[in-house]
Amino acid sequence: MALKTIDALELAGKRVFIRVDFNVPLDPQGRVTDDARIRAALPTIRHAIQAKAKVILASHLGRPKGKPEDRTKLTLEPAAVRLSELLSQDVILADDCVGDGVKKLVRDLKDGHVLLLENLRFHPEEEKNDEAFARELASLADVWVNDAFGTAHRAHASTAGMARFVKEKAAGFLVQKEVEYLGKALGSPARPFVAIVGGAKVSDKIKVLENLIAKADAVCVGGAMAYTFLKAQGVPVGRSLVEEDKLELARQILERAEARKVDLLLPVDHVCGAEPKETAERVVVNDRAIPDGLMGLDIGPKTLDRYRQRIAGAKTVFWNGPMGLFEQKPWSEGTFGIARAMAASPAVTVVGGGDSAAAVEQAGLVDKMKHVSTGGGASLEFIEGRELPGVKACEE
Ligand code: 3PG
Repeated sequence: MALKTIDALELAGKRVFIRVDFNVPLDPQGRVTDDARIRAALPTIRHAIQAKAKVILASHLGRPKGKPEDRTKLTLEPAAVRLSELLSQDVILADDCVGDGVKKLVRDLKDGHVLLLENLRFHPEEEKNDEAFARELASLADVWVNDAFGTAHRAHASTAGMARFVKEKAAGFLVQKEVEYLGKALGSPARPFVAIVGGAKVSDKIKVLENLIAKADAVCVGGAMAYTFLKAQGVPVGRSLVEEDKLELARQILERAEARKVDLLLPVDHVCGAEPKETAERVVVNDRAIPDGLMGLDIGPKTLDRYRQRIAGAKTVFWNGPMGLFEQKPWSEGTFGIARAMAASPAVTVVGGGDSAAAVEQAGLVDKMKHVSTGGGASLEFIEGRELPGVKACEE
């Protein structure tokens, strides 16, 4: 079903409740260290401001457990400060998300002004998708807009429940863009369609791999999960991380790829160390097999070249999961090499959130991709082919 988006609604003078995902990383001083999710919500927020709506924003931050110190650690104040800078306009921060104080702030809110409610998860009813709580949130709004793609896999009061109790609803531009790219990359990709999949564990990516094998022309595997695949093929992997209980599953995935005539590429060389530490000596192993005493921590240069060639020949590239322990410099070349190869490609390039999105951000290449998802868990579930409650709630 086509998503109705915010631009299809008349917003002037209305109370427009926009669920955003401002679950952003903070430093110990409480400053936002990566504002990508706040920036990604700006088109929708700006649209509502320009349409002269009374803009009410709501988000969760972290996973508060009801402890008093959570109130100070997980306040949305840093997000309010950053948003205000980005919009060049005041953002009023409420001290709660429901209650009489909030109702008064909403009543006094002027057209085109912005109010950010305090962390929704300070109320456990949010995650329980409690009906009374959802009704209370809905009572603040004439229109509900969901632009929190990163939280769209959660059926919570603000992401799904309250949709039933508002007069009008729609998706924001971010949700629309995410659904378009992540859906298009998988649904009807321009071919050749090449997927790059990495990360530590096969078990985290089973469904993603299965779905990609059904759709892609080639799947290039990196990250620690590659060693489980290599071991399943009988290749020695030294001290590399292996999920012993997933060897059979890895074999089945390899067989499925072969049966579907999908090229499933595994590393042919490696960057290894004796331990996963920044200070460990960096050893390039020019072979599929890894000697005893070493562990694979990144794909090797020959492997990177093969994956680059696949990317260069592709019309659609989807990437999820790092190629190695990229947070540490000696093991980061594979991951950044993939990011650069995608940035140089004219193909439809889609980065599926989480660590790979963080790597693209660190490399300063976000603007060179067609789409970098703001979803971690949400984008994975989407690629797995699951229905996201937060998207579905916009459709009904
Ligand atoms: C995320 O960062 O993945 C989303 O904001 C959802 O957060 P959660 O995993 O705490 O529900």
